[in-house]
Amino acid sequence: MSSSGEAELLHTFKGIPFTTRSSPELLKSLETFDAREDDVLLVSYPKSGTHWLAGVITKLYNTQVTITSPIEFGDISQLEELNKLSSKRIIPTHLDYNMLPPNFKEKKCKMIYISRNPKDTAVSMFHYYRDNPNLPTVETWTAFFDLFLKGSVVCGSWFDHFLSWEEHEDEKNILFLFYEDMKKDLPKVVKEITLFLNLNVSDNDIQDICKKSSFSEMKNDTEKENSDPSHTVCALTSNRRLIFRKGAVGDWKNYFTPKQNLRFQEIFNEKMKLSKM
Ligand code: A3P
Repeated sequence: MSSSGEAELLHTFKGIPFTTRSSPELLKSLETFDAREDDVLLVSYPKSGTHWLAGVITKLYNTQVTITSPIEFGDISQLEELNKLSSKRIIPTHLDYNMLPPNFKEKKCKMIYISRNPKDTAVSMFHYYRDNPNLPTVETWTAFFDLFLKGSVVCGSWFDHFLSWEEHEDEKNILFLFYEDMKKDLPKVVKEITLFLNLNVSDNDIQDICKKSSFSEMKNDTEKENSDPSHTVCALTSNRRLIFRKGAVGDWKNYFTPKQNLRFQEIFNEKMKLSKM
């Protein structure tokens, strides 16, 4: 791996690598962030389908809602911006549970955690590393595979992230979703989201929203600039064009060698032995 630019692009906060787009001052002051009871958090490890979910959720409301920048994105002025918003806030974040501003937990804000097969997440993140100038250069898939397994990538270990949230899966204010379920039956997942958020959306509208949220529609919207190409719900880039790559389940099979698959499986079994996944 060429680690060109790594020192300028990444820094570590509480043991987790962040890009320099998340300032240490901002990360520190998240501790005292003022949540509102009606905030909805959209939580994910990067490349798990955050934009897809955000696209669906914003279409479910018929009242004014704002999907904000990720809470950990930017410098300290970000907090002021968030405080100023008068509308209901949907706040994306890649933070693990332990780093989440405590006020969200105290106020029992609704949180939706989206997860994805970590093998596909790794492949998606590999491409993101290659295409995104805010991330260090990685020359090969083999090099990235090692970094991912070690948790030496932005947002740290997939396993630690997932486990930190899974521990709270049974809390009433947290909804756990999977990318693969959305691929299999999007209307069913959308129905589940509406029930969780107490939104009254007809089955016809759900069908319509699902159509508008397909991979091709969302990708086209970004290319045609029907949605702001310089706004993302990912703290690692503002360039929406980097998000819509392939949108498939099982792309890992095109990248993992049998040996890598075996190694991944061993580590997965070890790390996830207490997980329900
Ligand atoms: P791939 O790189 O495997 O294509 P995030 O939004 O968390 O950054 O996740 C990005 C991943 O979600 C990318 O995966 C992207 O293509 C996929 N994605 C985005 N919108 C999607 C949609 N409408 N349907 C399916 N996958 C989608």
